[in-house]
Amino acid sequence: MNQLFDLAGQVAIVTGTSRGLGQYFGRALARAGADLVITSRHLESLSSFEEEIRSLGRRVLPLELDVRNRPSIERMVAQADAAFGRIDILVNNAGCNVRKPALEVSWEDWNLVLDTNLRGSFFVAQAVARRMIPRGYGRIINIGSVTSVAGYAGLGPYGASRGGIRQLTMSLADEWGRHGITVNCLAPGWFRTEQNKVLYENEKWVEYLCDRIPLKRPGEPPDLDGALVFLASESSRYVTGQLLLVDGGISTGATRAMVQKTA
Ligand SMILES: NC(=O)c1ccc[n+]([C@@H]2O[C@H](COP(=O)([O-])OP(=O)(O)OC[C@H]3O[C@@H](n4cnc5c(N)ncnc54)[C@H](OP(=O)(O)O)[C@@H]3O)[C@@H](O)[C@H]2O)c1
Repeated sequence: MNQLFDLAGQVAIVTGTSRGLGQYFGRALARAGADLVITSRHLESLSSFEEEIRSLGRRVLPLELDVRNRPSIERMVAQADAAFGRIDILVNNAGCNVRKPALEVSWEDWNLVLDTNLRGSFFVAQAVARRMIPRGYGRIINIGSVTSVAGYAGLGPYGASRGGIRQLTMSLADEWGRHGITVNCLAPGWFRTEQNKVLYENEKWVEYLCDRIPLKRPGEPPDLDGALVFLASESSRYVTGQLLLVDGGISTGATRAMVQKTA
């Protein structure tokens, strides 16, 4: 049974591993046996994570990557392939957010979010798939969000990018399935990380959030480990083009509010 989740001898690229969810994703894959390529726009910010992964007995290669820059993407993937001779798993995690009322979103805000989250993920997947296709195997995991399926005020460009990621996942799954590549979207709900630190500093907001989550708490990054390793491993071999929400149930809707209204 455990072999279903065993990643020994496999090589995974996790983009955006200088902090936050990316480090948890890398850690989960390394614990399951994978060697890792870790990335950041600032190589020096990867040093302690690199040490941590090495101490688990895995090979690890830190590489510079700016997903808004095409040559940077091509360079990172070529270096990873040259170093390990294979890429089995890609976790398209690098991303950013601009939280603003729609009327205040600038042209530049829109470009930043869409270029990073959507265009960046596509071109990293494309560069990686060029190496996966000849080997007839690959697992691509795009990081989506609960905003892939629900609208939230103040998250217009972000939601558009995450909805796009869901759609992209289905298209790439359809196109690359014949090459033995699965493409799925792992969609976290509300997790406490650097990206949304400001929100979690507001106790009232946390209370409001927990009230709307059926499991009554925000996500903690290790809550994503099982779903990630599932999508990265043999255990998901007949699963492709899917969105897997790990969100404590918040995407189920406003059931509680309806009960309160009618009670
Ligand atoms: N936290 C949540 O609740 C949540 C929920 C759903 C989805 N997500 C998504 O999950 C991913 C990770 O979230 P997080 O909360 O861990 O975010 P985070 O703490 O802000 O980390 C974002 C990571 O992305 C990298 N990155 C940003 N812009 C980049 C660029 N242009 N090129 C390459 N790398 C770039 C950053 O690396 P450098 O700055 O070092 O380059 C960093 O490692 C994001 O895509 C986010 O949208 C998060």
